[in-house]
Amino acid sequence: MQRIILIGYMGAGKTTIGKALAHDLGLEFFDLDWYIEDRFRKKIPQIFAERGENGFREIERNMLYEVGEFENVVISSGGGTPCFFDNIDYMNKQADTVYLNAPVDVLYAHLMMGKSQRPLIEGKTPEELKAYIKDSLAGREQFYRKARYMVDVEVIKYKSQIQALVDNIKEIIATKNQKEDLLT
Ligand code: S3P
Repeated sequence: MQRIILIGYMGAGKTTIGKALAHDLGLEFFDLDWYIEDRFRKKIPQIFAERGENGFREIERNMLYEVGEFENVVISSGGGTPCFFDNIDYMNKQADTVYLNAPVDVLYAHLMMGKSQRPLIEGKTPEELKAYIKDSLAGREQFYRKARYMVDVEVIKYKSQIQALVDNIKEIIATKNQKEDLLT
């Protein structure tokens, strides 16, 4: 049984890489935000508007505990998921967790290109966005670094980069599992 959870800041590439990884491994793909939107029949910004961030975090945790039981899946978490409650410990217990580690400039570039609506950064000027990423990443990194594995992500412009990241993730997970399989 395989279960992989990708974590990392908004714009790190969790959904893009997660989809490609699932496809490559023949696993089903789940994006936690999309799962929440399906289950609640509401978009994430609407949930934030109606219940505030705290309400969203409760829902996010409950939905994590649902998808965290699914088997043979790749799951992309939300950028904040590992940073609330005991979510990161739960994820490490349930899955091979992979931190997509991207520096501020990469996150900024991806978020400027992205089309998703993200309530936490809605309406920010480019300067404000960069400052916000820098500050909140500094607070979140301690949680992200608790993941079992980490891969570095650069600005993604080409399909070949996505495949290279997929290969990289597959390799680090396989190497670790081999080590755990050793008799001594
Ligand atoms: C959030 C990230 C979003 C989404 C919500 C909050 C965060 O997911 O869960 O807007 O706290 O970083 P993505 O990382 O997929 O954008």
